[in-house]
Amino acid sequence: MKIGRLNHVGVAVPDIEAAKATYADLYGASDATDTRAFPHLGVKVAFVHLDNSEIELLEPLGDDSPVHKFLERNPKGGQHHLCFEVEDILAARDAMIERGATVLGTGEPYIGAHGVPVIFIHPKNSNGQLIELMQEPGK
Ligand code: CO
Repeated sequence: MKIGRLNHVGVAVPDIEAAKATYADLYGASDATDTRAFPHLGVKVAFVHLDNSEIELLEPLGDDSPVHKFLERNPKGGQHHLCFEVEDILAARDAMIERGATVLGTGEPYIGAHGVPVIFIHPKNSNGQLIELMQEPGK
């Protein structure tokens, strides 16, 4: 198993509309999706489209949001995770376990904000970086 393309960089923010405005006004990156709420994931999400990748803006939704604790440590927001595409999410999950990594949650892939199955790998396995692995869209 080898990771493929960088799909997106996840960025936690306290105010998703303000963050979209920053990328549009300061950097000219005004091509963004509408903000969508994912109550079962505990986040509001919008994607800022770039030529070669995307920024996934994450705002906590509810007190038990996984992004809530991150913002307590980083009140202004900050880089939260990297997401790489993989050809087969179940094969990737099995490879992660075989290689000694910790898959977060139940260990079963679930449908993320892109509508494809994802897993997250514990930051302790990647130099402090939370990693999302995503089934390649269209596979
Ligand atoms: Co993500």
